[in-house]
Amino acid sequence: MCGIVGFTGRTPALPFLVDGLRRMEYRGYDSAGVALVGGDPARIEVRRAVGKVDALAEALRADPPDESAACGIGHTRWATHGAPCVRNAHPHLSPDGRVAVVHNGIIDNFLDLRERLRAKGHEFRSDTDSEVVAHLVQECRGGSLIESVARALALVRGTYGIAVVSADEPGRIVVARRGSPVVVGTADGAAFVASDPAALAGRADRVAFLDDGDLALLEPGSFEVRSLAGEPVVREAAPLDFDPAAVEKGGYEHFMLKEIFEQPEALENCLRGRLLPDEGTAKLSGLRLGPREIAALSNVVLTACGTSYYAGLHGAYAFEQFAGIPARIEQAAEFRYRNPIVAPDTALVSLSQSGETADTLAAVREAKRKGALVLSVCNAVGSTIAREAGRGVYLHAGPEIGVASTKAFLCQVAALEMMALLFGRTRRLSGAEGAAIVRALASLPDLVRAVLAKNDAIARIAERHAGARDAFYIGRGYQYPAALEGALKLKEISYLHAEGYHAAELKHGPIALLDEKVPVVALAPRGPDRDKTLGNIQECRARNAPVVAIVTEGDADARAFTEDLVEVPPCPDFVAAVPVVVAEQLFAYHVARLRGEPIDKPRNLAKSVTVE
Ligand code: M6R
Repeated sequence: MCGIVGFTGRTPALPFLVDGLRRMEYRGYDSAGVALVGGDPARIEVRRAVGKVDALAEALRADPPDESAACGIGHTRWATHGAPCVRNAHPHLSPDGRVAVVHNGIIDNFLDLRERLRAKGHEFRSDTDSEVVAHLVQECRGGSLIESVARALALVRGTYGIAVVSADEPGRIVVARRGSPVVVGTADGAAFVASDPAALAGRADRVAFLDDGDLALLEPGSFEVRSLAGEPVVREAAPLDFDPAAVEKGGYEHFMLKEIFEQPEALENCLRGRLLPDEGTAKLSGLRLGPREIAALSNVVLTACGTSYYAGLHGAYAFEQFAGIPARIEQAAEFRYRNPIVAPDTALVSLSQSGETADTLAAVREAKRKGALVLSVCNAVGSTIAREAGRGVYLHAGPEIGVASTKAFLCQVAALEMMALLFGRTRRLSGAEGAAIVRALASLPDLVRAVLAKNDAIARIAERHAGARDAFYIGRGYQYPAALEGALKLKEISYLHAEGYHAAELKHGPIALLDEKVPVVALAPRGPDRDKTLGNIQECRARNAPVVAIVTEGDADARAFTEDLVEVPPCPDFVAAVPVVVAEQLFAYHVARLRGEPIDKPRNLAKSVTVE
């Protein structure tokens, strides 16, 4: 995730900026940069580099800026709009080079703003949404910098944590927050800003966290907060009291847990601007598919590995249910070698969090050779699969650092359902049916929040099963891919042997393994399959297997068979896998924690599998 730092004082800013960026490296990023305001007359110098902060340090050595400059801002970028490259790295300059901006978040209306600015003669140097803010501040110039920034932000829709410097007001930094964290601080003769308190630890004596809608002016030794409308705002400053190492994970014990808790926000970012309630459909511009092209498709083949494969299986069900188009999922490693049948009217949907998985990439290349319409659903912007597919959907889930995929899975499910909805509205869904799906998708972040609130209860259930050696996960319909995903989560981080099965398949073999030492996690939220899965729970209990049941709130029937119930909020069956998988993630996490395993970096596993 992107990081912001800024410093203004009586000593050189650069050492703080580079050190602050290093302290945020744990968040994951793909490029870094700084802007320094100094000299007489004052000017702004920008240095940027792709890769680690070390690469930026090298760029600073190769082309040293005015190192005495006592005011500056810095950024680590995780690409969302535009590939990771120097021209897309922050800070971004206004056309006249007198304003520099660093930005976290997403400017929803940047396309519209960019067109309006182009019409006034502005030329853009990057593909980012953020650059538009630097141009707007120049365009809105008049009065002080903070007034110009306030006028510019009034035109912006979306989320931001932002820091702005101007050669016209050296020694000042203007910062603002809406939906993306900003903390400001002071120490003797200096003021700081960061998006993450880790960057201020041991530097600022006192800090204040901005609220959404706050705008602040930093000068050496002080800061002043006001509203966007210019009203004074009081934000109490307090000593910064924390262990920097703990803050690296945002206070969470593991990145995996942090990422599980980031899922509501990840889903919001994935859904933002893409759901059209009035039309009962979804807008996915990156697919570049019109109604005629969608109507001409004869089938959808999804391909992926691991967790992405399970999301794809869920997606295949949604394509058939919403769009009435034949859909199937293939393991990418099979697809690439078994000479599958694809035709020019086949849509091949490749799924990958990293966008670099070797087998998935090979499947994309094979499908292109065969003339299929190739689409990608990736998290990492500018990744090889996204680039080679050429058309697709980005998840905007933010970086995943834990090896176990969590938020990418949920966002893949959301992205595939939006795609299936779009296809469905072109082919057979009515506006009212589409609108109901839109409503269900819009509720996903809240469904996840409701399950996260049960973290402690799930931890207590995990305590009762952490000593097991084997486990089964069972489900039907949309809960079948969720069962496969739950078992994968448990085995990869806890090293407990776990298998996911269709609930009906249990009696065709695996039931022979059940006894009082083998827990079964049964996924039975309300829906067309709930009664049958309850029947399967009884079969498991008849073999003395302990059962953990994930059911809909208020569904008391399963209580007759087990005390270990996790309740998820009521929702349509095609989105119920989302809250269910969150419960599974927390269960796996707590089992692994209780067993003392290295959750973020399980043995033998890599985050990105770039070999066959
Ligand atoms: O980056 P990708 O989504 O292509 O990765 C695919 C699998 O390697 C990945 O999902 C893996 O199964 C995870 N460790 C699961 O948590």
